[in-house]
Amino acid sequence: MAIKINETTQEFHLYNDNISYIFRVLKKSKQLEHLYFGKRIKHRNSFSHLIEREIRPSCNMFEGDHTSSLEHIKQEYPSYGTTDYRFPAHTITSINGSNLSNYQFQGYKIISGKPALKGLPATYVEIQDEADTIEITLYDEVLKSKLILSYTIYANHNAITRNTRFTNDSNEAFYITNAMSASVDFPDDQFELVHLAGAWAREAHVQTQKLSKGIQSIYSARGASSHAHNPFLALKRPDATEQNGEVYGFSLVYSGNFLAQVEVDTYDVTRVMMGINPFQFKWKINSYETFQTPECVMVYSDKGLNGMSQTYHELYRTRLARGYWRDKVRPILINNWEATYFNFNEEKVLDIARTARDLGVELFVLDDGWFGERHSDNGSLGDWFENKEKLPNGIKGLSEKVEKLGMKFGLWFEPEMVNTDTKLFKEHPDWIIETPNRRASHGRNQFILDFSRDEVVEHIFNLMDNIIKDSKISYIKWDMNRYITEPYSTSLAFDQQGELFHRYILGVYKLYDMLIEKYPEILFESCAGGGARFDPGMLYYAPQAWASDDTDAAERLKIQYGTSMVYPLSSIGSHVSAVPNHQVGRNTPIDTRANVAYFGTFGYELDITKVTEVEKAKVKEQVAFFKEKRELIQHGDFYRILTPFESNETSWMVVSKDKSEAIVGYYQVLAKPNEKYSRIKLTGLDPDKLYSIEGKNSTHYGDELMNIGIILAEDFTDRSSEYWQREKKGDFHSTLFILKEAQE
Ligand code: DGJ
Repeated sequence: MAIKINETTQEFHLYNDNISYIFRVLKKSKQLEHLYFGKRIKHRNSFSHLIEREIRPSCNMFEGDHTSSLEHIKQEYPSYGTTDYRFPAHTITSINGSNLSNYQFQGYKIISGKPALKGLPATYVEIQDEADTIEITLYDEVLKSKLILSYTIYANHNAITRNTRFTNDSNEAFYITNAMSASVDFPDDQFELVHLAGAWAREAHVQTQKLSKGIQSIYSARGASSHAHNPFLALKRPDATEQNGEVYGFSLVYSGNFLAQVEVDTYDVTRVMMGINPFQFKWKINSYETFQTPECVMVYSDKGLNGMSQTYHELYRTRLARGYWRDKVRPILINNWEATYFNFNEEKVLDIARTARDLGVELFVLDDGWFGERHSDNGSLGDWFENKEKLPNGIKGLSEKVEKLGMKFGLWFEPEMVNTDTKLFKEHPDWIIETPNRRASHGRNQFILDFSRDEVVEHIFNLMDNIIKDSKISYIKWDMNRYITEPYSTSLAFDQQGELFHRYILGVYKLYDMLIEKYPEILFESCAGGGARFDPGMLYYAPQAWASDDTDAAERLKIQYGTSMVYPLSSIGSHVSAVPNHQVGRNTPIDTRANVAYFGTFGYELDITKVTEVEKAKVKEQVAFFKEKRELIQHGDFYRILTPFESNETSWMVVSKDKSEAIVGYYQVLAKPNEKYSRIKLTGLDPDKLYSIEGKNSTHYGDELMNIGIILAEDFTDRSSEYWQREKKGDFHSTLFILKEAQE
């Protein structure tokens, strides 16, 4: 890894063994021109031969210079209004109403390693040799403002991270109305746009569309990254597949309103940008203040979508997630939500815990309904003290009893919310987000606390702390079940209302920080009505996230397949639940439910006291199986093989780092009569290693499994008389293939 600079031509080349990123300073205007992002190329003293200029009819920056139109120059951090008419990466509004800026190169600084971002989640290094950072300083003479573009190149990840920082060195305030984290101009438009879209209970569905001229974007204006879109997009070459071809990924380490946008201009230049959504955003930056954007993580892969995903998985698992639980195998949990909803008491939950403990489950999680008068979703959020009728011994007593069973205890909170029937609301009715003189809309009967205010965050910390400090709490599920409406904060001035969404999410991060600092060993799982905040920002605080409220195995194939585009298996909360499934009413075999849920942080979400003895025996086997394999599942390399979005079949696999072990999941949604011969070609194995497959008598070399594949049909060679008796597998059938290195 290196950052090479040609001081004379003012060119910058960031590279590691696999990727290169090149830009330069424009001679006259001193803005930054983008030259290349992609597969590693050899370093040259100068890349000036990559500069593209045409004489075109347009407005130009300099008289007599017909090639100085920014509209026709690929840039690093473009602005609008000085010859570029495309969507800009930043916009500054001055006190006089002008929307122009002109940040010009002033200098650079190389930093070994990677500085943290104040108040914001970001990827990090553990030792400085892991990455180098270059900070480019640009200066606007009129605004008297610095713009610092920060780029980090990792040695062992095919990723470049970017963020930007604005400072105001003048005596006058100005407003930032748009501040992207990164912007890249690609020289052509031969891409398909891949992104994750959905809704509650069907998150992260993979969308693929050909780029067309103009703007195509995904975004959130809901106050959370949202069920509807994930802060991620990829540009893939049309011939790129899961395993091969060029893919560029863009992922924002942020949990609030975001914009991820692609603009194809009239000359087929593709501009990608990502950052805080400029819609509803306006940040006042006073004299000598600084504004820091979130981080954008840009990945290049020449090994298809899987190559991109594996870079994200490795980086996010090891250098975004943090703390005590980062590298530890996660406990197998049972959560009482779908078992009891709000209707439980101490005896019932202990019964569930005890039964689960007997089957090997390690953590019991008490979900919603333990506090105030919470018997439905009508009230009590904010009354963070236990309901003594349900729990006569409180959370303290219950947690001690669960620990005595030999299990760990986890608890649900929804810290950002309040209902009007609570002590919290009665004492602080002005703490909710609402606009004066307007009706306040509710979601799930609840209102959102104004987390942009420090005193609100601190108060909620104290309420939570009162429960946590006396009890034995090893895990917290942090939920968030509605989006922001009527955005307005009484603590912000009229010209700062556009800061609310960002300040809100900074408040959420602050509360996480306070809790983690005091309780570093608590495992946090983030949740927002399922996957509405399944984003990289959250992973910095909570190493796992509940992927969806939809626990149906067939639906989960799509949700988990899509989620795995960016997020590692160690982060994907996935549980076995009861049938008929509570979201779709479908019956799927318990084996399939587990075969899907194994590819994530495994657990159960059903009334285990009510399952049959035969099913209990299955659960026991599943728990034992996961304990044996979880190291491999959490830390191995994950590959998607067959997509559920295109056919009746899904397949994926995880391979250990040393390639001595692998688990392949194969799932068929609907059963078919008189089926075709099917094989799945594996990937990621060592071609020269010999593997055994559990349940099969033969051994296979990796090259055979990757080029010929596993034959899926049963072998009837010596069983030709079994015609009538043969087993029909039925709908939602699945198979796990367990591969182990074998000797000749
Ligand atoms: C939404 C979550 O996604 C569920 O798992 C559950 O915790 C409920 N909220 C509780 O209200």
